[in-house]
Amino acid sequence: MKKLSLASIAGSFICVCMCLSSVTWAQTTRAQSSADVDLNARLKETEANPRLLEAAHKTGAKVASFCANCHGEGGNSATPETPNLAGQNTSYLLEQLRQFVDGRRKNPFMEGMIRALNADEKIGVVLYYASKDVTYKPSANALLATKGQDYYNKICFRCHGDQGRGNESIARIAGQNPVYLNTTLKRYRDGSALRKDPLMAANTKTMTDADIDAVVAYVSSLK
Ligand code: HEC
Ligand code: HEC
Repeated sequence: MKKLSLASIAGSFICVCMCLSSVTWAQTTRAQSSADVDLNARLKETEANPRLLEAAHKTGAKVASFCANCHGEGGNSATPETPNLAGQNTSYLLEQLRQFVDGRRKNPFMEGMIRALNADEKIGVVLYYASKDVTYKPSANALLATKGQDYYNKICFRCHGDQGRGNESIARIAGQNPVYLNTTLKRYRDGSALRKDPLMAANTKTMTDADIDAVVAYVSSLK
């Protein structure tokens, strides 16, 4: 986030709170989690109904204009430490929104942003980003990417798939930003308080920094 001034961050934050908030900040944790239980069901319902889907895309496009500063137009991220959201899988995205709000995933800025969204806005923004394409970037180091491919095909493909596209609830990692991928894998491996996941901890615990560099070179260059 180095390129962003504090003023622009605060500006977009205040703006989201003022323009989007129809959920009160004082909402109790219990109310929040019962609202979240319905989110996956509402997502499915929206996906199955063309009229709801069209409305959700419109809402999503509006919400996304508040995210574009960091996540880029159409979800191809504007800064290396910010993930692309384009092409990301719907249930995975919803789950991350939930984790930011309940603090399992720690990022005070994202927590504030997401708390300001109501259920329709969350579903809209998830569907909007999932429908966008990730911009393809070939690897800067083809030799390293080939090494990473061997590692990937031994371990990671089991959940993230041959092409790195995951599935509805497992993250797409194909074409993700290398800097973000690197940081994220080290957080899982090192048991960082910022982000934890038992499956990812188990699958990264024996990775060296060099293994991570190689896998990242490969994964970030997948289409
Ligand atoms: C000021 C910059 C900034 C803005 C504005 C912003 N984000 Fe983020 N977002 C980030 C950063 C940085 C991360 C990575 C956080 C981490 O892993 O610690 C992130 C992570 C995420 C993730 C997790 C993605 C993944 O692959 O796991 C989602 C989902 C997300 N943001 C959605 C949104 C939405 C929706 C908005 C607009 C309502 C938004 N963000 C606005 C900076 C921003
Ligand atoms: C047993 C299944 C499984 C295996 C094997 C696995 N992953 Fe994951 N991965 C997951 C799950 C589940 C998540 C979501 C965790 C969360 O919510 O933080 C995830 C999340 C990730 C993320 C975060 C995505 C984002 O947008 O923030 C990255 C990066 C990742 N995995 C890379 C890898 C790599 C590289 C390997 C191989 C070394 C691997 N994974 C092996 C299940 C797996």
